[in-house]
Amino acid sequence: MPTGELVRLRAFEPSEAEALWRWNHDAEVMRWMEDGYPDSLADLQKRMADWKPNSYEKSRLAVEALEDGKLIGVVVLRDAQPETGHAELDIYIGEKDRWGSGYATDTVRTACRFGFEKMRLHRITLWVVADNAAARRVYEKVGFVEEGRQRESFRRDGQWHDMVMMGLLEGDLRG
Ligand SMILES: CC(C)(COP(=O)(O)OP(=O)(O)OC[C@H]1O[C@@H](n2cnc3c(N)ncnc32)[C@H](O)[C@@H]1OP(=O)(O)O)[C@@H](O)C(=O)NCCC(=O)NCCS
Repeated sequence: MPTGELVRLRAFEPSEAEALWRWNHDAEVMRWMEDGYPDSLADLQKRMADWKPNSYEKSRLAVEALEDGKLIGVVVLRDAQPETGHAELDIYIGEKDRWGSGYATDTVRTACRFGFEKMRLHRITLWVVADNAAARRVYEKVGFVEEGRQRESFRRDGQWHDMVMMGLLEGDLRG
């Protein structure tokens, strides 16, 4: 299991649907993320039962705090292509009382290390809402750099926001 200084990344258990559902319905957690249509806990449990096992193409990993073994978030490495060595990354820490303690930084670093060392990726890409300052700070600490901007492509509370594309190359991972 990929393990960092603060977190361990592992597969989800079906019994953990409730935590995911709670995070997906928390306006503060979802503020800068696509939230889709409301679904019930039963809908989510059904979807989770159909999830394919983690693989090169898509790894959906539970973030567990090493300190107490609690599930605190999600990180996904997806759309990996062996021909190009590219993949995309998404992350959130759903347990808000853990924000500001370095968990996201260690999670992104650990997932990227897994991507470069185990999956032999060459680059990892992510998209972030330009106004999501905390997330951008996390990515910069790990070594991601801004590579492009999509203007007014995210709408929240009647306002349009730019999306920033950030990339990290093998060898540029910090920490
Ligand atoms: C954004 C998020 C991943 C950060 O998680 P976290 O565990 O609090 O992150 P860390 O503690 O590792 O680091 C946060 C950094 O952002 C900084 N930060 C926090 N709020 C900030 C703000 N408003 N402006 C600028 N920097 C900020 C912190 O000071 C810290 O940097 P530092 O170590 O230099 O002091 C988490 O808040 C989250 O999951 N939010 C909801 C979902 C989301 O936005 N996901 C990302 C989608 S692209």
